[in-house]
Amino acid sequence: MRVPLIAGNWKMYKTVAEAVDLVDGLLAGLGNPSDREIVVCPPFTALHALSPLLRGTEIHLGAQDVYPEVQGAFTGAISPVMLRDLGCQYVIVGHSERRQIFGEGDALINRKLHSAMTHGLRPILCVGETKPERDSGRAESVVVGQLRGCLEGVAASAAADLVVAYEPVWAIGTGDTATPADAQSMHAAIRQVLAEILGSEAASSIRLQYGGSVKPDNVDELMAQPDIDGALVGGASLKADSFLRIVQFR
Ligand code: 13P
Repeated sequence: MRVPLIAGNWKMYKTVAEAVDLVDGLLAGLGNPSDREIVVCPPFTALHALSPLLRGTEIHLGAQDVYPEVQGAFTGAISPVMLRDLGCQYVIVGHSERRQIFGEGDALINRKLHSAMTHGLRPILCVGETKPERDSGRAESVVVGQLRGCLEGVAASAAADLVVAYEPVWAIGTGDTATPADAQSMHAAIRQVLAEILGSEAASSIRLQYGGSVKPDNVDELMAQPDIDGALVGGASLKADSFLRIVQFR
């Protein structure tokens, strides 16, 4: 009942021309996948060019971040209304790079999540522990804390639009993927907390993605886990052939 969701987070890669090339390659090789959902999250600068190319296709458009306000004197920020205007359906909030490099905390991420939902964007909420947090046995409590902080005030009725991505920070861009068993165990813990916050019915409908060095050669094992409903892919989403193989997980 949870449709698997494979999303590519392109991070700060691709000029407009390169982004168009990549989307052309994806559309050419995609076929007609009816049992899974696909999203690409290019940099803001490529959204306008990609929107008409993706309209009516199997690939949905997402953004990598959003500011909670609709408009105003917020230099450098992009509003949810602007993203909707460009055809975005999804938006990543709380990515660990936003948390670590740009100093975002759960309170701001919570505002972003509410604003995204209010304006018709489906948030992909990222959570995940660092290496020292895992090594000191705190991985689960860190993730639970992030979930509680970021989901403050979210109603169970909004759950259908929510996606949670578990991205252990030590697995991002390192080639050091969580084992399928470790990922599954954290996903099960996340679903348990979601049940406490939003109720068990909502929790069982929310898609949980794994992210962190997802590649063509490990996606099948990860996707075979019962609580892993998708992948949030960084590096391997930047080339058509590798992302297509991930989308075509078996
Ligand atoms: P990598 O797939 O490059 O490890 O990145 C994961 C990620 O941060 C996706 O949001």
